[in-house]
Amino acid sequence: MEGRLALLKKALLGLAFAGAIFSAGCKSGENTAQAGSGTTGTAAQGEKVKIGFLVKSASEQWFQTEWKFAQEAADKLGVELIKKEVVDGEKVSSAMDNLKVLGAQGVIICTPDQKLGQLITSKAQAGNMKLLTVDDRLVGADNQPMKDVHHVGIQAFDIGKSVGQAISDEAKKRGWNMAEVGAIVLTLDKLETATQRINGAMEVLKANGMTDAHLFRSPWKGDVPDTKGAIDAANIALTQHPEIKKWVAIASNDDGVLGCVRASEGRGIKAEDMIAVGINGNEPAIADLKRTPPTGFFGTILLSAKQHGYGTLESMYYWIKDGKEPPMETWTSGTLMTRENFEQVLKEQGL
Ligand code: GLA
Repeated sequence: MEGRLALLKKALLGLAFAGAIFSAGCKSGENTAQAGSGTTGTAAQGEKVKIGFLVKSASEQWFQTEWKFAQEAADKLGVELIKKEVVDGEKVSSAMDNLKVLGAQGVIICTPDQKLGQLITSKAQAGNMKLLTVDDRLVGADNQPMKDVHHVGIQAFDIGKSVGQAISDEAKKRGWNMAEVGAIVLTLDKLETATQRINGAMEVLKANGMTDAHLFRSPWKGDVPDTKGAIDAANIALTQHPEIKKWVAIASNDDGVLGCVRASEGRGIKAEDMIAVGINGNEPAIADLKRTPPTGFFGTILLSAKQHGYGTLESMYYWIKDGKEPPMETWTSGTLMTRENFEQVLKEQGL
């Protein structure tokens, strides 16, 4: 009897050993195919799922919120989440090398520069990691969006149109003659989603009577455009047009629009003579909506940081674990929040 038990034990040990070799083989990538195929970045049974979440600016509230939601999803699913700020190509490169060393099976990234498309896809492939881009899409050598990389972004043009509509409605309410109104337009040509947002807003402003000559475009500069850079850009438009008495402001996000509002305040333009509407809807936009007396920051389009953080992490997890591939493209929408309704909207969204 004892002899038989020993034999059985031996056999079981042998099986376990074979299993260990098999999973080690999978992990080293020998048995897996190229990035983008079904077997890239899979997790062996019992192996911890590790996912990298790289963002272009950790100081921007949008990305902090995205990370917060990603962490919630990771905690729920038992995923090891590796968060890292990547402000340029070098940082992207070293972060992705590091993820490879750590054995991450997937990476979610908001790139600091859309043109890093080739670098990012080849690093994901070399690290045997699944790749999902969020917010800002990668472009290839031909300068076209890389449609073979899974992406979650916002419906930028439509959201821009909502900005233009909110401004136009409020201008009408205030009895403004749109032909006399001037717009500070912060441009960010290097970012496709930013350009689409601004184009959407401008289209609606023009449809509501704003003249093309009154769209004062000012480039929003800086590696990572922030509110300080936006103040500088807005000041150029304001200095050049002292003849304008009623202003509106548009930009690709709240940081830009808040810069326009701060610049207008610095020049003594009253809140009732400014209608600025941003995009994102996190702090510091909420902080401005709470201020009394009201500022020129009229509202913001609240985006779904939950879908971009929690949702992407969840998709990546099931992709790694069960081979359930997410849609190639997901485009999320937004909701207008103003001083009047922001508390209710935030509550409805569970924020
Ligand atoms: C870009 C902007 C962010 C945020 C996201 C939303 O990355 O820079 O502020 O608006 O898009 O997708």
